[in-house]
Amino acid sequence: MLAGLEIFDQDTGLPVLVRSLHVLAGITWIGLLYYFNVVQVPAFASYGDEARARNVSIEKLASRALWWFRWSAVATLVMGLLILGVTKDYMKDFMTDTSFIGLGHSAAIFVGMLFGITMAANVWMVIWKNQKVVIANAATLVAGGEANPGAAAAGRSAALASRQNFIFSFSMLWFMVGAAHLYGAYNGDSAGKAWLFVIIAVVIGAALELNALGYFGGKAATNKLLWPYESHRNAIITGAVLWAVLYLLSEALLK
Ligand code: HEM
Repeated sequence: MLAGLEIFDQDTGLPVLVRSLHVLAGITWIGLLYYFNVVQVPAFASYGDEARARNVSIEKLASRALWWFRWSAVATLVMGLLILGVTKDYMKDFMTDTSFIGLGHSAAIFVGMLFGITMAANVWMVIWKNQKVVIANAATLVAGGEANPGAAAAGRSAALASRQNFIFSFSMLWFMVGAAHLYGAYNGDSAGKAWLFVIIAVVIGAALELNALGYFGGKAATNKLLWPYESHRNAIITGAVLWAVLYLLSEALLK
């Protein structure tokens, strides 16, 4: 049996190992994303004036959670991109079946990856960058120092990007898993339809991301366009609507 084992074959050897590590890292990352969004942030918000306890919690607990969060995001991204590299004929199939993105599988994984890569960029370039300011401020306050006047704005930027990642995550996971298990059978009778799906998904995704970064009217709570990010309930609704829209589009264009 082992004689026939091809190290780069889809269902044996390296691709299976890399996929397993990818999923393991992915659940760690997204699990912590959900913990932040539906547990920690609402809990910390309810602390009210217990500022000291809150600061200690941020320093001791959030720092650990954030370490696992940002490094599992890197591991997920690296393993995800490695799947493309170590799976025999993966890139060849991507490029040559009817056309690039001509297959339902290719279109679905392309959208899943774009959302995932955007989310990883948010983790490092927005969430972690701003959380460092929030954590440093909390530590200074606990030590009896002066508050950083920029800390609230940094916290707001991190929260908007984190809720945007939460919103993306439902659709990202759907297309990530659906690539092999739902859309693989479609073999590209119309590459135009698959492209249309990808373009619509990219435009909607880009609009949401730019909105979360404050490009459409700033980051103040008075900006009505930021409704999706004002509570985890709003983010759940927005994430579900995004998933439903993309699901219906995929039914029409990828099957
Ligand atoms: C960060 C960017 C990401 C990239 C570039 C990426 C890339 C990939 C690729 C190329 C595949 C193989 C798809 C196929 O051909 O069937 C895949 C599968 C998968 N990914 Fe990701 N991924 C990312 C993020 C995530 C995240 C955050 C999760 C969360 C758990 C995740 C979970 C999965 C799962 C469950 C599969 C299906 C494995 C299978 O059916 O064998 N991915 N990913």
